[in-house]
Amino acid sequence: MSEAAAQQSGTRRETAAPLLEVKNIEVVYSEVILVLRGLSLMVPKGEIVALLGANGAGKSTTLKAISGLLKTEEGEVTRGDILFGGERLNGIDPDRIVRRGIFQVMEGRRIIADMTCLENLRLGAFTRSDNEVRRDIDMVYGYFPRLRERTGLAGYLSGGEQQMLAIGRALMARPKLILMDEPSMGLSPLLVKEVFGIIRQLNRDLGITILLVEQNARMALSVASYGYVMEQGKVVLDGTAAALAENEDVKEFYLGGHGAERKSFRNLKSYKRRKRWL
Ligand SMILES: Nc1ncnc2c1ncn2[C@@H]1O[C@H](COP(=O)(O)OP(=O)(O)O)[C@@H](O)[C@H]1O
Ligand SMILES: [Mg+2]
Repeated sequence: MSEAAAQQSGTRRETAAPLLEVKNIEVVYSEVILVLRGLSLMVPKGEIVALLGANGAGKSTTLKAISGLLKTEEGEVTRGDILFGGERLNGIDPDRIVRRGIFQVMEGRRIIADMTCLENLRLGAFTRSDNEVRRDIDMVYGYFPRLRERTGLAGYLSGGEQQMLAIGRALMARPKLILMDEPSMGLSPLLVKEVFGIIRQLNRDLGITILLVEQNARMALSVASYGYVMEQGKVVLDGTAAALAENEDVKEFYLGGHGAERKSFRNLKSYKRRKRWL
């Protein structure tokens, strides 16, 4: 099938080589709390894939399962496989996963507040022993010029600047895959646009593959090639970004709604889900 035909029908191109494959994983916290219940997804090399879903669906848990950071929260992958470039990642320590080329930009921009921008960026390069770190810092400043001017502590940066620094720090590890957790959270619409513009650029210029978790489905689908919608620890819907953006359920649940509309959408949602997705 041609790419255009695949886009239209909402199916996926068969030619894209998978960089990341998550196969039917189950995740349990503290040995008893089952959060992911057979989640599967695939991220082809060089693409941006969106992972959408309401609060509590298990999006962050999915990213932490991939990056190995679950371990730091007493979480464990108890079933299924996570494959990166065909090699199994299950149970590997987070720092070794970074060395393999995966970097997670955590929700809430976890930069180190009492270090400077430059120190935060150097920290991102902790796995590297080459002598091009300085050059990459300049490359990051190229994407985020305003960070160069901020010489004080990172804790004093604005929300948008902290998000930029968090992304810049990820770049310093020279990752093949960036896992981004809600980069739009807490940012003004203008900054959201700017940050998403940069996400698109990083993908195009540097060829970095991105798994993008978002509640802002409209923005996420505008940069992604493919998307998954999850609810209660599972994927309930997937398709090309174009097909998802046109999907009636997605429109209604994730692309519509401010305020009052959102309130009523809860009831509607479970009803519709039963009807269409189960
Ligand atoms: N460390 C943890 N221990 C126990 N339960 C957790 C932990 N982290 C998340 N959860 C639970 O897992 C579910 C999914 O959370 P999360 O992955 O953060 O969802 P999302 O990112 O989609 O909002 C929620 O019910 C949340 O309460
Ligand atoms: Mg989350």
